[in-house]
Amino acid sequence: MADRTDWFTNARFGLFVHWGLYSLAARHEWVQQRERLTDAEYRRYFENFRADRFDPGQWARDAKAAGMRYAVLTTKHHEGFCLWDSDLTDFKATNTPAGRDLVAEFVEAFRAEGLRVGFYHSLIDWHHPDFTIDGWHPRWDGSADLVELNAGRDLDRYVDYLHGQVGELLTAHQPDLLWLDFSYADDHRVPVGKGREDWRADDLVEMVRKLSPHTLLNDRLDLPGSEDFATAEEASPHAQPSADGRPVPWEACRTLNGSWGYAPGFQEWLDPGQVVRILVDCVSKGGNLLLNIGPDGRGKFEPRARQMLDAIGSWTTSHADSIYGAGPVPDVVPPPDCRLTRSGNRLFVHVFGWQSGTLACAGLGSRTRYASMLHDGSEVRFSVVDEDGDLPHLRDAGPPGALVLHLPARRPDVPVPVIELTLDLGDRPVGDTTA
Ligand code: GLC
Repeated sequence: MADRTDWFTNARFGLFVHWGLYSLAARHEWVQQRERLTDAEYRRYFENFRADRFDPGQWARDAKAAGMRYAVLTTKHHEGFCLWDSDLTDFKATNTPAGRDLVAEFVEAFRAEGLRVGFYHSLIDWHHPDFTIDGWHPRWDGSADLVELNAGRDLDRYVDYLHGQVGELLTAHQPDLLWLDFSYADDHRVPVGKGREDWRADDLVEMVRKLSPHTLLNDRLDLPGSEDFATAEEASPHAQPSADGRPVPWEACRTLNGSWGYAPGFQEWLDPGQVVRILVDCVSKGGNLLLNIGPDGRGKFEPRARQMLDAIGSWTTSHADSIYGAGPVPDVVPPPDCRLTRSGNRLFVHVFGWQSGTLACAGLGSRTRYASMLHDGSEVRFSVVDEDGDLPHLRDAGPPGALVLHLPARRPDVPVPVIELTLDLGDRPVGDTTA
């Protein structure tokens, strides 16, 4: 039966966009909290937010060329600034020199390129006067009397606002996905946090389901059971997560340089090979990769980010079959330093390391009909290990029945070489080694 998460699971690769007033500070999206900036100090970014180089069509084309199939934009981050023309606040892009509804333009441009659209929306709001000061708030000084500090603040009024804004966004755009962030009721790093009770999470979920039934919801509301997919931040699980014996759709979100917001001073960038390996690793465990770019304060993707997308795109274009619509192969143990994915009767061996010589894949000898490099279709010759574990010129070649691939001496010039195996599936699981 078709599941509403099917598109998400097939898409595998998306773009995360963190863009807001912090993009002008250009030193991490938590700058207001990290530097304890007052509202008055932070105001300068609002007054100078021009977005004059914002071209969402270009963003969408770059994302598409990289092989991304969906995109998630920060409609509001923790700073509270809204990128759309909300009726519920003045703290929005239409009141800055930019003077545009950036969310509407983003949605239109990405949908025009055939990409799905999602919204990241912060549950936290450091600008709203009723958002109570807690352990993560820029006004928290670690020792203050919270009751005194929060005099006059009424969290319920803020939560009405939060629900109202999510309602506005869903009604206007019916996004494919909603990425709410985040809950910290039991966060050991802060003495006072917020969670499902504070957000009135039950009501919020009910509203989301009512207003836009197809919208997928992430797992950061502190309300287990309400999510369509799980999130993993700057990391990936060891194996495919499951619940009640069923695999759970999940997504790893990653920065390129340790900051979600534009931060040219953060110089430790991943290289394209690392990103491709992360993507492959996610897919081999049934997950997606949501790769972040923080556009600069004027709305551009920096050249380095665009080059990254371009390099990733060269790989995804020639290796699309092993990624989109492909998934894990739970019943086959991958060779060392390899990741497996499968799509129908095609099994893909992603070789992270490369040595010339042989690569043994246990259990696949009797099932493999043909093997070739995915990027150029060139044949890869193979043998099958005999009952003693040997091949004609090689003792201890692998476990009996293993497929032994004879790798080209020269590593193909792609970030991750992939060998495609065409299998004779019969009616048995792939990993069934009986001849
Ligand atoms: C964290 C951070 C935030 C970032 C998000 C992305 O929750 O607070 O800055 O947007 O992770 O996953």
